Amino acid sequence: MFYANQVRFYLNDKLVEMDVTPTQTALEIIRALGATGAKEACSEGDCGACTVALGLERNRYLAVTSCIMPATKLHGRHVITVEGLGTPENLHPIQEVMYRHHATQCGFCTPGFIMSIFCLLANNSQPDMAAFRKALEGNLCRCTGYQHIVQAGEDLLEKLHEGLLSISSLFPDFCDAVWDDLEQSQPPQVVPVSAGVLPSREYHLCYSLDAALHALDADPQNSRVISGGTDLFVESNVARRFAENYIDVQRIASLHTFSMDDHELTIGAGVTLEELLQDARIHVHFPLLSQAIEMMGSVQIRNVATLAGNLGNASPVADGACALLGLDASVQLTSSQGARSVPLKKYYLGYKQTERHPDEIITAIILPRKEGGFGNFIKTGKRHNVDISSVSSALSVQVDASGLLTDVVLAYGGVKEYPALATQTMALLQGKKIDEILITEAMACVEAEFTPIGDVRGTAEYRSLLIKNQLKKHLLRFIKRGEDA
Ligand SMILES: Cc1cc2nc3c(=O)[nH]c(=O)nc-3n(C[C@H](O)[C@H](O)[C@H](O)COP(=O)(O)OP(=O)(O)OC[C@H]3O[C@@H](n4cnc5c(N)ncnc54)[C@H](O)[C@@H]3O)c2cc1C
Ligand code: FES
Ligand code: FES
Repeated sequence: MFYANQVRFYLNDKLVEMDVTPTQTALEIIRALGATGAKEACSEGDCGACTVALGLERNRYLAVTSCIMPATKLHGRHVITVEGLGTPENLHPIQEVMYRHHATQCGFCTPGFIMSIFCLLANNSQPDMAAFRKALEGNLCRCTGYQHIVQAGEDLLEKLHEGLLSISSLFPDFCDAVWDDLEQSQPPQVVPVSAGVLPSREYHLCYSLDAALHALDADPQNSRVISGGTDLFVESNVARRFAENYIDVQRIASLHTFSMDDHELTIGAGVTLEELLQDARIHVHFPLLSQAIEMMGSVQIRNVATLAGNLGNASPVADGACALLGLDASVQLTSSQGARSVPLKKYYLGYKQTERHPDEIITAIILPRKEGGFGNFIKTGKRHNVDISSVSSALSVQVDASGLLTDVVLAYGGVKEYPALATQTMALLQGKKIDEILITEAMACVEAEFTPIGDVRGTAEYRSLLIKNQLKKHLLRFIKRGEDA
Protein backbone atom coordinates (compact mmCIF):
# COMPACT_ATOMS: atom_id res chain seq x y z
CA MET A 1 0.00 0.00 0.00
CA PHE A 2 1.21 3.53 -0.81
CA TYR A 3 0.32 6.61 1.19
CA ALA A 4 0.13 10.34 0.61
CA ASN A 5 -0.06 13.07 3.21
CA GLN A 6 -3.00 15.42 3.31
CA VAL A 7 -1.17 18.68 3.93
CA ARG A 8 -2.66 22.03 4.88
CA PHE A 9 -0.65 25.21 4.42
CA TYR A 10 -0.92 28.74 3.06
CA LEU A 11 0.59 29.83 -0.21
CA ASN A 12 0.65 33.63 0.10
CA ASP A 13 -2.96 34.49 1.10
CA LYS A 14 -4.51 31.21 -0.13
CA LEU A 15 -5.27 28.22 2.07
CA VAL A 16 -4.15 25.00 0.37
CA GLU A 17 -5.41 21.57 1.38
CA MET A 18 -4.16 18.76 -0.81
CA ASP A 19 -2.58 15.32 -0.94
CA VAL A 20 1.15 15.17 -1.62
CA THR A 21 3.23 12.09 -2.28
CA PRO A 22 6.40 11.23 -0.30
CA THR A 23 8.83 12.35 -3.00
CA GLN A 24 7.08 15.41 -4.37
CA THR A 25 9.01 18.61 -3.78
CA ALA A 26 7.64 21.85 -2.38
CA LEU A 27 8.61 23.55 -5.65
CA GLU A 28 6.52 21.16 -7.74
CA ILE A 29 3.47 21.97 -5.61
CA ILE A 30 4.07 25.71 -5.43
CA ARG A 31 4.45 26.01 -9.21
CA ALA A 32 1.49 23.71 -9.87
CA LEU A 33 -0.59 26.08 -7.73
CA GLY A 34 0.33 28.94 -10.07
CA ALA A 35 3.20 30.59 -8.18
CA THR A 36 5.58 30.24 -11.12
CA GLY A 37 7.90 33.05 -10.03
CA ALA A 38 9.82 30.36 -8.13
CA LYS A 39 11.93 28.76 -10.86
CA GLU A 40 13.43 25.33 -11.32
CA ALA A 41 16.98 25.35 -12.65
CA CYS A 42 19.59 23.18 -10.94
CA SER A 43 17.22 21.10 -8.69
CA GLU A 44 20.17 20.68 -6.32
CA GLY A 45 19.87 23.65 -3.98
CA ASP A 46 22.83 25.30 -5.70
CA CYS A 47 21.42 28.31 -7.56
CA GLY A 48 18.63 29.81 -5.44
CA ALA A 49 16.19 30.30 -8.36
CA CYS A 50 13.53 28.40 -6.41
CA THR A 51 13.98 30.37 -3.15
CA VAL A 52 10.77 31.03 -1.22
CA ALA A 53 10.10 32.38 2.28
CA LEU A 54 8.98 29.59 4.57
CA GLY A 55 7.06 30.84 7.60
CA LEU A 56 7.61 28.56 10.61
CA GLU A 57 5.72 30.79 13.01
CA ARG A 58 4.39 34.34 13.19
CA ASN A 59 7.12 36.76 12.02
CA ARG A 60 9.65 33.94 11.49
CA TYR A 61 10.30 33.46 7.79
CA LEU A 62 13.34 31.60 6.43
CA ALA A 63 14.75 31.51 2.91
CA VAL A 64 14.70 27.93 1.63
CA THR A 65 15.41 26.24 -1.68
CA SER A 66 12.02 24.70 -2.44
CA CYS A 67 13.44 22.37 -5.14
CA ILE A 68 14.99 20.11 -2.48
CA MET A 69 12.30 20.49 0.16
CA PRO A 70 9.89 17.57 0.56
CA ALA A 71 6.34 18.80 -0.08
CA THR A 72 5.12 17.21 3.15
CA LYS A 73 7.26 19.72 5.05
CA LEU A 74 4.86 22.45 3.87
CA HIS A 75 2.22 21.21 6.29
CA GLY A 76 1.28 23.90 8.83
CA ARG A 77 3.61 26.43 7.19
CA HIS A 78 3.14 29.74 5.40
CA VAL A 79 4.91 30.05 2.05
CA ILE A 80 5.46 33.50 0.63
CA THR A 81 6.55 33.70 -2.98
CA VAL A 82 7.35 36.71 -5.10
CA GLU A 83 3.68 36.80 -6.18
CA GLY A 84 2.70 37.43 -2.55
CA LEU A 85 4.86 40.53 -2.23
CA GLY A 86 3.68 42.83 -5.00
CA THR A 87 2.08 43.10 -8.40
CA PRO A 88 3.36 44.77 -11.60
CA GLU A 89 1.03 47.72 -10.81
CA ASN A 90 1.97 47.88 -7.16
CA LEU A 91 5.55 46.73 -6.64
CA HIS A 92 6.82 45.74 -3.19
CA PRO A 93 9.69 48.03 -2.01
CA ILE A 94 12.24 45.27 -2.69
CA GLN A 95 10.87 44.69 -6.20
CA GLU A 96 10.77 48.42 -6.81
CA VAL A 97 14.39 49.00 -5.84
CA MET A 98 15.58 46.05 -7.97
CA TYR A 99 13.62 47.43 -10.93
CA ARG A 100 14.91 50.99 -10.48
CA HIS A 101 18.56 49.85 -10.34
CA HIS A 102 18.22 47.64 -13.46
CA ALA A 103 19.10 44.71 -11.22
CA THR A 104 17.24 42.29 -13.42
CA GLN A 105 18.09 41.33 -16.99
CA CYS A 106 16.49 38.08 -18.21
CA GLY A 107 14.74 37.97 -14.82
CA PHE A 108 15.08 34.23 -14.25
CA CYS A 109 16.94 34.61 -10.97
CA THR A 110 15.14 37.75 -9.78
CA PRO A 111 12.28 36.17 -7.78
CA GLY A 112 14.83 34.08 -5.86
CA PHE A 113 16.97 37.15 -5.09
CA ILE A 114 13.90 39.10 -3.98
CA MET A 115 12.78 36.34 -1.62
CA SER A 116 16.30 36.05 -0.13
CA ILE A 117 16.36 39.82 0.49
CA PHE A 118 12.87 39.66 2.01
CA CYS A 119 13.97 36.92 4.41
CA LEU A 120 17.12 38.85 5.36
CA LEU A 121 15.01 41.85 6.35
CA ALA A 122 12.37 39.70 8.05
CA ASN A 123 15.10 38.46 10.41
CA ASN A 124 17.43 41.43 10.72
CA SER A 125 16.03 44.94 11.11
CA GLN A 126 19.42 46.69 10.80
CA PRO A 127 21.47 44.71 8.27
CA ASP A 128 24.67 46.11 6.81
CA MET A 129 26.02 45.42 3.34
CA ALA A 130 28.09 42.48 4.62
CA ALA A 131 24.86 40.85 5.85
CA PHE A 132 23.16 41.73 2.55
CA ARG A 133 25.91 40.00 0.53
CA LYS A 134 25.90 37.00 2.89
CA ALA A 135 22.13 36.62 2.50
CA LEU A 136 22.61 36.30 -1.26
CA GLU A 137 25.44 33.74 -1.19
CA GLY A 138 23.02 31.04 -2.37
CA ASN A 139 21.59 32.98 -5.32
CA LEU A 140 23.25 32.86 -8.73
CA CYS A 141 22.54 35.29 -11.57
CA ARG A 142 23.38 33.76 -14.91
CA CYS A 143 23.30 37.22 -16.49
CA THR A 144 25.86 38.25 -13.83
CA GLY A 145 23.96 41.38 -12.81
CA TYR A 146 25.53 41.38 -9.35
CA GLN A 147 26.77 44.97 -9.34
CA HIS A 148 23.25 46.32 -9.89
CA ILE A 149 21.84 43.99 -7.24
CA VAL A 150 24.42 45.31 -4.77
CA GLN A 151 23.50 48.90 -5.70
CA ALA A 152 19.82 48.07 -5.15
CA GLY A 153 20.82 46.69 -1.73
CA GLU A 154 22.72 49.85 -0.81
CA ASP A 155 19.69 51.94 -1.72
CA LEU A 156 17.31 49.70 0.23
CA LEU A 157 19.46 49.65 3.37
CA GLU A 158 19.92 53.42 3.23
CA LYS A 159 16.14 53.85 3.19
CA LEU A 160 15.80 51.52 6.17
CA HIS A 161 18.54 53.25 8.15
CA GLU A 162 17.08 56.68 7.42
CA GLY A 163 13.65 55.51 8.57
CA LEU A 164 12.08 56.05 5.13
CA LEU A 165 11.07 52.40 5.12
CA SER A 166 10.05 50.19 8.03
CA ILE A 167 10.54 46.45 8.34
CA SER A 168 6.89 45.93 9.29
CA SER A 169 5.79 47.55 6.01
CA LEU A 170 7.68 44.83 4.11
CA PHE A 171 5.43 42.04 5.42
CA PRO A 172 2.35 41.41 3.28
CA ASP A 173 -0.96 42.37 4.96
CA PHE A 174 -2.28 38.81 4.94
CA CYS A 175 0.41 37.36 7.29
CA ASP A 176 -1.47 37.94 10.57
CA ALA A 177 -4.71 36.35 9.37
CA VAL A 178 -2.74 33.38 8.03
CA TRP A 179 -1.09 32.76 11.42
CA ASP A 180 -4.39 33.16 13.30
CA ASP A 181 -5.48 30.08 11.38
CA LEU A 182 -2.20 28.11 11.14
CA GLU A 183 -1.51 28.24 14.85
CA GLN A 184 -4.34 25.69 15.23
CA SER A 185 -2.67 23.16 12.86
CA GLN A 186 -2.70 19.44 13.62
CA PRO A 187 -0.33 16.81 12.16
CA PRO A 188 -1.23 15.90 8.56
CA GLN A 189 -3.71 13.12 7.83
CA VAL A 190 -2.28 10.12 6.00
CA VAL A 191 -4.36 8.87 3.05
CA PRO A 192 -3.94 5.71 0.97
CA VAL A 193 -3.28 6.26 -2.74
CA SER A 194 -3.07 3.90 -5.68
CA ALA A 195 0.30 2.23 -6.14
CA GLY A 196 2.37 2.22 -9.31
CA VAL A 197 3.10 5.89 -9.77
CA LEU A 198 5.09 6.38 -6.62
CA PRO A 199 8.70 5.44 -5.92
CA SER A 200 8.18 5.61 -2.13
CA ARG A 201 5.52 4.27 0.17
CA GLU A 202 5.29 6.60 3.15
CA TYR A 203 6.52 9.92 4.47
CA HIS A 204 6.11 10.15 8.24
CA LEU A 205 6.15 13.71 9.52
CA CYS A 206 6.86 12.90 13.17
CA TYR A 207 6.07 15.14 16.12
CA SER A 208 7.55 12.91 18.86
CA LEU A 209 10.62 10.69 19.19
CA ASP A 210 8.39 7.75 20.14
CA ALA A 211 6.40 8.15 16.92
CA ALA A 212 9.62 8.31 14.87
CA LEU A 213 11.13 5.22 16.54
CA HIS A 214 7.86 3.35 16.11
CA ALA A 215 7.75 4.20 12.39
CA LEU A 216 11.42 3.24 12.00
CA ASP A 217 10.96 -0.08 13.82
CA ALA A 218 8.33 -1.10 11.28
CA ASP A 219 10.94 -1.37 8.50
CA PRO A 220 14.42 -0.13 9.50
CA GLN A 221 16.24 -1.56 6.46
CA ASN A 222 14.07 0.28 3.94
CA SER A 223 13.56 3.56 5.80
CA ARG A 224 15.63 6.73 5.78
CA VAL A 225 15.57 9.17 8.65
CA ILE A 226 15.27 12.68 7.20
CA SER A 227 16.10 16.01 8.83
CA GLY A 228 16.59 18.98 6.47
CA GLY A 229 16.57 16.76 3.39
CA THR A 230 19.40 18.76 1.78
CA ASP A 231 21.30 15.55 1.03
CA LEU A 232 18.40 13.16 0.62
CA PHE A 233 16.34 15.28 -1.78
CA VAL A 234 19.35 16.11 -3.95
CA GLU A 235 19.84 12.34 -4.13
CA SER A 236 16.23 11.80 -5.21
CA ASN A 237 16.16 14.74 -7.66
CA VAL A 238 19.49 14.04 -9.32
CA ALA A 239 20.26 10.34 -8.88
CA ARG A 240 16.56 9.32 -8.72
CA ARG A 241 17.39 7.27 -5.64
CA PHE A 242 14.42 7.02 -3.28
CA ALA A 243 13.88 5.44 0.10
CA GLU A 244 10.82 3.28 0.58
CA ASN A 245 9.91 5.28 3.68
CA TYR A 246 11.01 8.62 5.03
CA ILE A 247 10.96 9.27 8.78
CA ASP A 248 11.06 13.06 9.21
CA VAL A 249 12.42 13.99 12.65
CA GLN A 250 12.80 17.73 12.23
CA ARG A 251 9.59 18.72 14.05
CA ILE A 252 10.33 16.71 17.18
CA ALA A 253 10.52 19.37 19.88
CA SER A 254 12.83 17.30 22.12
CA LEU A 255 15.47 17.26 19.34
CA HIS A 256 15.49 21.06 19.22
CA THR A 257 17.27 21.41 22.53
CA PHE A 258 20.59 23.07 23.02
CA SER A 259 22.21 22.94 26.44
CA MET A 260 25.62 23.68 27.91
CA ASP A 261 27.06 23.00 31.36
CA ASP A 262 30.62 23.25 32.71
CA HIS A 263 31.64 20.02 30.98
CA GLU A 264 29.86 19.75 27.65
CA LEU A 265 27.58 21.19 25.04
CA THR A 266 24.68 19.05 23.82
CA ILE A 267 23.21 19.92 20.45
CA GLY A 268 19.84 18.31 19.67
CA ALA A 269 19.74 16.62 16.27
CA GLY A 270 17.00 18.95 15.01
CA VAL A 271 18.95 22.18 15.56
CA THR A 272 19.74 23.67 12.16
CA LEU A 273 23.14 24.90 11.03
CA GLU A 274 21.89 28.48 10.86
CA GLU A 275 20.51 28.29 14.40
CA LEU A 276 23.97 27.17 15.54
CA LEU A 277 25.63 29.95 13.60
CA GLN A 278 23.40 32.54 15.27
CA ASP A 279 24.12 31.24 18.76
CA ALA A 280 26.73 33.25 20.68
CA ARG A 281 27.74 30.20 22.75
CA ILE A 282 29.06 28.49 19.63
CA HIS A 283 31.11 31.54 18.62
CA VAL A 284 32.57 32.01 22.08
CA HIS A 285 33.23 28.42 23.18
CA PHE A 286 33.51 26.52 19.88
CA PRO A 287 34.84 28.99 17.28
CA LEU A 288 36.16 26.08 15.21
CA LEU A 289 32.58 24.86 14.71
CA SER A 290 31.19 28.26 13.76
CA GLN A 291 34.07 28.73 11.28
CA ALA A 292 33.09 25.42 9.64
CA ILE A 293 29.33 26.08 9.58
CA GLU A 294 29.83 29.56 8.19
CA MET A 295 31.41 27.93 5.10
CA MET A 296 28.75 25.25 4.66
CA GLY A 297 26.26 25.65 1.83
CA SER A 298 24.27 28.88 1.73
CA VAL A 299 21.79 30.47 4.09
CA GLN A 300 18.96 28.61 2.29
CA ILE A 301 20.70 25.29 3.00
CA ARG A 302 21.79 26.14 6.55
CA ASN A 303 18.21 27.18 7.41
CA VAL A 304 17.12 23.54 7.23
CA ALA A 305 20.28 21.38 7.24
CA THR A 306 21.57 19.81 10.44
CA LEU A 307 24.81 18.41 11.85
CA ALA A 308 22.95 15.13 12.39
CA GLY A 309 22.35 14.96 8.62
CA ASN A 310 26.01 15.77 8.00
CA LEU A 311 27.00 12.79 10.17
CA GLY A 312 24.17 10.61 8.86
CA ASN A 313 25.28 11.15 5.29
CA ALA A 314 28.78 9.98 6.25
CA SER A 315 30.35 11.73 3.29
CA PRO A 316 34.17 11.79 3.31
CA VAL A 317 34.02 15.53 2.61
CA ALA A 318 31.37 16.46 5.19
CA ASP A 319 32.63 19.71 6.72
CA GLY A 320 30.52 19.48 9.88
CA ALA A 321 31.79 15.97 10.52
CA CYS A 322 35.42 17.07 10.10
CA ALA A 323 34.91 19.96 12.54
CA LEU A 324 33.14 17.74 15.08
CA LEU A 325 35.90 15.14 14.84
CA GLY A 326 38.41 17.91 15.52
CA LEU A 327 36.40 18.85 18.61
CA ASP A 328 36.41 15.30 19.97
CA ALA A 329 32.61 15.09 19.72
CA SER A 330 30.37 12.10 20.43
CA VAL A 331 27.13 11.19 18.76
CA GLN A 332 24.05 10.01 20.65
CA LEU A 333 22.20 7.18 18.91
CA THR A 334 18.71 6.26 20.10
CA SER A 335 16.58 3.22 19.27
CA SER A 336 13.43 1.91 20.92
CA GLN A 337 15.83 -0.15 23.11
CA GLY A 338 17.52 2.95 24.55
CA ALA A 339 20.29 5.46 23.84
CA ARG A 340 24.07 5.07 23.54
CA SER A 341 26.88 7.50 22.96
CA VAL A 342 29.60 6.79 20.38
CA PRO A 343 32.78 8.89 20.12
CA LEU A 344 32.98 10.24 16.59
CA LYS A 345 36.49 8.77 16.19
CA LYS A 346 34.84 5.33 16.43
CA TYR A 347 31.70 6.19 14.44
CA TYR A 348 33.05 5.73 10.88
CA LEU A 349 33.69 2.19 9.69
CA GLY A 350 34.25 2.63 5.94
CA TYR A 351 32.97 4.52 2.92
CA LYS A 352 29.45 5.68 3.90
CA GLN A 353 29.45 3.08 6.67
CA THR A 354 28.95 4.02 10.28
CA GLU A 355 28.31 2.56 13.71
CA ARG A 356 24.65 3.63 13.47
CA HIS A 357 22.31 0.65 13.29
CA PRO A 358 19.35 0.95 10.89
CA ASP A 359 16.88 1.21 13.79
CA GLU A 360 18.76 4.09 15.44
CA ILE A 361 18.18 7.81 15.15
CA ILE A 362 20.89 10.37 15.81
CA THR A 363 19.33 12.34 18.65
CA ALA A 364 22.18 14.59 19.81
CA ILE A 365 25.79 15.59 19.34
CA ILE A 366 27.90 16.12 22.43
CA LEU A 367 30.97 18.34 22.54
CA PRO A 368 33.35 18.34 25.52
CA ARG A 369 34.19 21.84 26.73
CA LYS A 370 37.90 22.68 26.72
CA GLU A 371 38.32 26.30 27.62
CA GLY A 372 41.24 28.51 26.73
CA GLY A 373 42.64 26.43 23.89
CA PHE A 374 42.93 27.12 20.19
CA GLY A 375 40.66 25.81 17.44
CA ASN A 376 40.79 26.41 13.71
CA PHE A 377 38.96 25.11 10.62
CA ILE A 378 40.15 25.37 7.01
CA LYS A 379 38.26 24.42 3.88
CA THR A 380 39.61 24.54 0.35
CA GLY A 381 37.10 24.37 -2.48
CA LYS A 382 36.74 25.93 -5.90
CA ARG A 383 34.37 28.62 -4.57
CA HIS A 384 34.17 30.21 -1.14
CA ASN A 385 30.50 29.34 -0.66
CA VAL A 386 28.13 26.62 -1.79
CA ASP A 387 30.91 24.28 -2.73
CA ILE A 388 32.09 20.89 -1.63
CA SER A 389 35.57 20.80 -0.08
CA SER A 390 38.54 19.37 -1.91
CA VAL A 391 40.16 19.05 1.50
CA SER A 392 39.05 20.41 4.86
CA SER A 393 40.74 20.16 8.24
CA ALA A 394 40.23 21.05 11.86
CA LEU A 395 42.85 21.55 14.55
CA SER A 396 42.16 21.94 18.24
CA VAL A 397 44.86 22.17 20.90
CA GLN A 398 45.33 23.18 24.51
CA VAL A 399 48.54 24.80 25.73
CA ASP A 400 50.12 24.16 29.14
CA ALA A 401 51.87 26.69 31.37
CA SER A 402 55.22 26.15 29.60
CA GLY A 403 53.71 26.70 26.17
CA LEU A 404 53.66 23.02 25.22
CA LEU A 405 50.79 21.60 23.17
CA THR A 406 48.40 19.22 24.91
CA ASP A 407 45.14 17.58 23.80
CA VAL A 408 46.10 17.86 20.14
CA VAL A 409 43.31 16.80 17.75
CA LEU A 410 43.80 17.10 13.99
CA ALA A 411 41.00 15.94 11.68
CA TYR A 412 40.76 15.89 7.88
CA GLY A 413 37.94 15.60 5.36
CA GLY A 414 38.41 14.60 1.72
CA VAL A 415 41.56 12.53 2.31
CA LYS A 416 40.16 9.04 2.85
CA GLU A 417 36.84 7.11 2.69
CA TYR A 418 35.56 9.03 5.72
CA PRO A 419 36.56 12.04 7.84
CA ALA A 420 39.68 10.89 9.69
CA LEU A 421 42.11 11.83 12.42
CA ALA A 422 45.79 12.37 11.57
CA THR A 423 46.87 10.26 14.54
CA GLN A 424 50.61 10.13 13.79
CA THR A 425 50.84 13.89 13.37
CA MET A 426 48.78 14.38 16.52
CA ALA A 427 51.32 12.24 18.41
CA LEU A 428 54.20 14.18 16.87
CA LEU A 429 52.79 17.54 17.98
CA GLN A 430 51.71 16.42 21.43
CA GLY A 431 53.84 17.91 24.22
CA LYS A 432 55.93 20.05 21.85
CA LYS A 433 56.43 23.75 21.39
CA ILE A 434 55.69 25.04 17.90
CA ASP A 435 58.67 26.32 15.97
CA GLU A 436 59.75 26.29 12.34
CA ILE A 437 61.51 22.91 12.61
CA LEU A 438 58.45 21.26 14.15
CA ILE A 439 56.17 22.76 11.49
CA THR A 440 58.37 21.27 8.74
CA GLU A 441 58.45 17.87 10.47
CA ALA A 442 54.68 17.90 11.04
CA MET A 443 54.01 18.78 7.39
CA ALA A 444 56.11 15.82 6.22
CA CYS A 445 54.42 13.54 8.75
CA VAL A 446 50.87 14.48 7.76
CA GLU A 447 51.66 14.21 4.05
CA ALA A 448 52.88 10.65 4.60
CA GLU A 449 49.88 9.77 6.73
CA PHE A 450 47.23 9.96 3.96
CA THR A 451 47.09 8.70 0.38
CA PRO A 452 44.22 10.70 -1.09
CA ILE A 453 42.55 9.84 -4.37
CA GLY A 454 42.05 12.18 -7.33
CA ASP A 455 38.58 13.16 -8.54
CA VAL A 456 36.70 16.15 -9.98
CA ARG A 457 37.51 18.20 -6.90
CA GLY A 458 41.26 17.77 -7.18
CA THR A 459 44.04 15.42 -8.20
CA ALA A 460 45.73 13.21 -5.63
CA GLU A 461 48.86 15.42 -5.83
CA TYR A 462 46.82 18.58 -5.26
CA ARG A 463 45.11 17.03 -2.24
CA SER A 464 48.47 15.94 -0.77
CA LEU A 465 49.68 19.51 -1.13
CA LEU A 466 46.53 20.81 0.56
CA ILE A 467 46.91 18.35 3.43
CA LYS A 468 50.34 19.66 4.42
CA ASN A 469 49.71 23.31 3.55
CA GLN A 470 46.51 23.41 5.59
CA LEU A 471 48.46 22.08 8.58
CA LYS A 472 51.08 24.78 8.11
CA LYS A 473 48.31 27.39 8.03
CA HIS A 474 46.73 25.99 11.20
CA LEU A 475 50.05 26.13 13.03
CA LEU A 476 50.92 29.63 11.82
CA ARG A 477 47.46 30.79 12.86
CA PHE A 478 48.07 29.16 16.22
CA ILE A 479 51.33 31.12 16.62
CA LYS A 480 49.50 34.33 15.72
CA ARG A 481 46.42 33.14 17.70
CA GLY A 482 43.87 33.38 14.95
CA GLU A 483 45.29 36.17 12.82
CA ASP A 484 45.55 35.04 9.24
CA ALA A 485 48.85 33.60 8.13
C1 LIG B 1 23.64 23.45 -2.20
C2 LIG B 1 24.24 22.57 -1.14
C3 LIG B 1 25.42 22.95 -0.54
C4 LIG B 1 25.98 22.13 0.45
N1 LIG B 1 27.16 22.53 1.01
C5 LIG B 1 27.74 21.74 1.94
C6 LIG B 1 28.98 22.12 2.52
O1 LIG B 1 29.54 23.18 2.22
N2 LIG B 1 29.55 21.26 3.41
C7 LIG B 1 28.95 20.08 3.78
O2 LIG B 1 29.50 19.36 4.59
N3 LIG B 1 27.77 19.71 3.25
C8 LIG B 1 27.16 20.51 2.34
N4 LIG B 1 25.97 20.12 1.77
C9 LIG B 1 25.38 18.83 2.14
C10 LIG B 1 24.28 18.92 3.22
O3 LIG B 1 23.65 20.17 3.26
C11 LIG B 1 24.84 18.63 4.60
O4 LIG B 1 25.40 17.33 4.61
C12 LIG B 1 23.80 18.75 5.70
O5 LIG B 1 24.43 18.80 6.95
C13 LIG B 1 22.78 17.61 5.66
O6 LIG B 1 21.84 17.83 6.69
P1 LIG B 1 20.29 17.50 6.48
O7 LIG B 1 19.65 17.69 7.81
O8 LIG B 1 19.71 18.28 5.38
O9 LIG B 1 20.38 15.97 6.09
P2 LIG B 1 19.33 14.96 5.33
O10 LIG B 1 19.36 15.22 3.89
O11 LIG B 1 18.01 15.10 6.03
O12 LIG B 1 19.98 13.60 5.70
C14 LIG B 1 21.31 13.28 5.28
C15 LIG B 1 21.66 11.86 5.73
O13 LIG B 1 21.63 11.77 7.13
C16 LIG B 1 20.63 10.86 7.58
N5 LIG B 1 19.99 11.51 8.73
C17 LIG B 1 19.48 12.76 8.80
N6 LIG B 1 19.08 13.04 10.05
C18 LIG B 1 19.31 11.93 10.78
C19 LIG B 1 19.10 11.58 12.13
N7 LIG B 1 18.59 12.45 13.03
N8 LIG B 1 19.43 10.33 12.55
C20 LIG B 1 19.97 9.42 11.66
N9 LIG B 1 20.21 9.71 10.37
C21 LIG B 1 19.89 10.95 9.93
C22 LIG B 1 19.71 10.65 6.39
O14 LIG B 1 19.08 9.37 6.40
C23 LIG B 1 20.68 10.81 5.23
O15 LIG B 1 21.39 9.62 5.04
C24 LIG B 1 25.35 20.93 0.82
C25 LIG B 1 24.13 20.56 0.23
C26 LIG B 1 23.58 21.37 -0.73
C27 LIG B 1 22.27 20.98 -1.35
S1 FES C 1 16.50 25.23 -8.64
FE1 FES C 1 18.53 25.79 -8.16
S2 FES C 1 18.43 25.90 -6.00
FE2 FES C 1 16.51 25.16 -6.50
S1 FES D 1 18.90 38.32 -14.59
FE1 FES D 1 19.22 36.64 -15.88
S2 FES D 1 19.84 35.09 -14.50
FE2 FES D 1 19.86 36.86 -13.31
